[in-house]
Amino acid sequence: MDDRCPHERFGLSGGELVGEAVRCPGHGWTFALSDGRAVRGPEGMRVRVFPVRERGGNLEVDLSDAREADA
Ligand code: FES
Repeated sequence: MDDRCPHERFGLSGGELVGEAVRCPGHGWTFALSDGRAVRGPEGMRVRVFPVRERGGNLEVDLSDAREADA
């Protein structure tokens, strides 16, 4: 998932794993790992998630959508 929280851009990588979601270290909004939707925070808020696959013992993340959105 995208590292930046849509609230005030805190890094979600510094957050806490809560079940199958990540809690933002800023103000506690929490996002589902499966689809990025806020499970705690404003309704309809979400972060981008990216497809991940395992191949040959490595994890590969498809960031092609991220590049298009950030262009
Ligand atoms: S910056 Fe993430 S909840 Fe405020």
